[in-house]
Amino acid sequence: MLLGGGNILSFAGWHAVAACCIWLAAAAPADADRGERLFGECKACHDIGANARHKVGPHLDGVIGRVAGSVDGFRYSSAMVAAGRKGLVWTAATIDAYIVRPREFIPGNRMSFRGMADAGDRAALTGWIEATSTARPADDPNAPVAVADEATSFTDIVLKMKGDPEYGEYLAGECVTCHQQSGRADGIPSIVGLPAPYFIRALFEYKTNVRSNEVMKLRVQNLGNDEIAALAAYFSSLEPR
Ligand code: HEC
Ligand code: HEC
Repeated sequence: MLLGGGNILSFAGWHAVAACCIWLAAAAPADADRGERLFGECKACHDIGANARHKVGPHLDGVIGRVAGSVDGFRYSSAMVAAGRKGLVWTAATIDAYIVRPREFIPGNRMSFRGMADAGDRAALTGWIEATSTARPADDPNAPVAVADEATSFTDIVLKMKGDPEYGEYLAGECVTCHQQSGRADGIPSIVGLPAPYFIRALFEYKTNVRSNEVMKLRVQNLGNDEIAALAAYFSSLEPR
């Protein structure tokens, strides 16, 4: 009796473990399938994988770690080329940010894709692109995959621009009507002395709808990267009170 009970228990325990791990193992391929299915929204314009060719858009083989607007033989908009010169490098994170609303992330770029609102969809898609975009010459399947160790996130890119605090002070005139120098007022957080990486990240999150506050979304919509860099340099240079 006792032995039987023990067996049942341990069987149940084993079963729970097995269920967990079978489920875990299945999770990755399911997400990859989802990513591949979602690439259907890009496929009309983009080819990916070894021997990929340009279509309406540049081919995306080896796109991870590539400087924006840099593939030979494709005529990019000047906005895309300028974004690359400013330091934009494609990674899962920057592609994710771009496809939320391509026109807002790089104003003036020519990709006519309305955007992908669902963060889970974007994660599945960019994960699949990361796994599929090989960056290997077609004739050498063993060649290493190139990954840039350059700036990899929006925050890094804007930080590298080393904003001008005096220009930031000038621009801040539009902000301090709400964000009081002296600190909190009426539920408006103080932004005096915020560290630049946090500040930049926050503005980026309003830009890309990760943060939903309508007032701030409206304020950041028209700020360029150089303006965000200047504002971050200015506010981070002030002493918090
Ligand atoms: C209607 C056609 C079209 C669709 C759909 C489209 N793209 Fe694009 N894409 C373009 C064009 C055109 C460009 C080049 C834009 C420029 O030069 O301004 C581009 C550029 C890009 C770039 C930059 C590549 C580089 O070399 O710098 C990435 C990354 C990208 N697209 C990803 C995607 C993803 C992911 C999807 C699907 C969610 C998608 N695109 C859907 C047309 C499209
Ligand atoms: C009309 C009032 C108003 C103006 C003008 C305004 N903000 Fe804001 N700001 C807010 C409010 C309200 C929040 C809090 C929103 C939230 O909860 O996400 C906020 C949040 C922020 C945050 C995030 C703070 C944190 O602790 O995470 C930053 C950074 C910021 N604003 C910067 C700016 C900058 C830079 C400007 C000028 C370009 C500006 N704001 C102009 C009202 C304003």
